[in-house]
Amino acid sequence: MAMFQEKLQQERRNLPIYPAKGKIINQIQRLDTAILIGETGSGKTTQIPQYLLEANVNKNAIIAITQPRRVAAITISQRVAEEQGTELGQRVGYCVRFEDVTSENTKIKYMTDGMLLREAILDPLLKSPLPHATHIFVLVNKDISLFGLGSILCTCRCLVV
Ligand SMILES: Nc1ncnc2c1ncn2[C@@H]1O[C@H](COP(=O)(O)OP(=O)(O)OP(=O)(O)O)[C@@H](O)[C@H]1O
Ligand SMILES: [Mg+2]
Repeated sequence: MAMFQEKLQQERRNLPIYPAKGKIINQIQRLDTAILIGETGSGKTTQIPQYLLEANVNKNAIIAITQPRRVAAITISQRVAEEQGTELGQRVGYCVRFEDVTSENTKIKYMTDGMLLREAILDPLLKSPLPHATHIFVLVNKDISLFGLGSILCTCRCLVV
């Protein structure tokens, strides 16, 4: 078990995004909205939320990450839960239509665009999808619609990847 965790942590350090960790944290702390461009598979979706959490940049806010498809939201959250050494639905969870695998302990929450947007329109402060959040930090996948992006930018600190 310990060896498995060590291997996962080594894999995290080998990702192309890892050398940019400090710079990314720094820029995100300074900016309300940022756009980050990085090659596919470099580690944006899996690593940045963990960097923010580990550096406490989110200051207890929930870090929400959108994905265009539910399969991606689910599989990525499983991977990140493993990397965090936590059970899915605890510190790391996901929320897609008809399925909410989160708890009051959840700090990193993968969601479909649809889930976030539906709620953002009905409830601009996002109290219902993220009931435990005082404010939220959203990583928006670049494939989100411009309409959707506009709604999110109105309410949240935001990183577009
Ligand atoms: N379920 C998984 N099992 C094993 N490795 C995974 C899994 N999910 C992701 N990875 C690894 O993590 C790396 C980073 O993936 P991540 O989704 O964070 O990249 P990304 O920068 O968001 O890419 P994209 O631009 O395509 O969204 C991938 O290169 C892949 O090797
Ligand atoms: Mg990604």
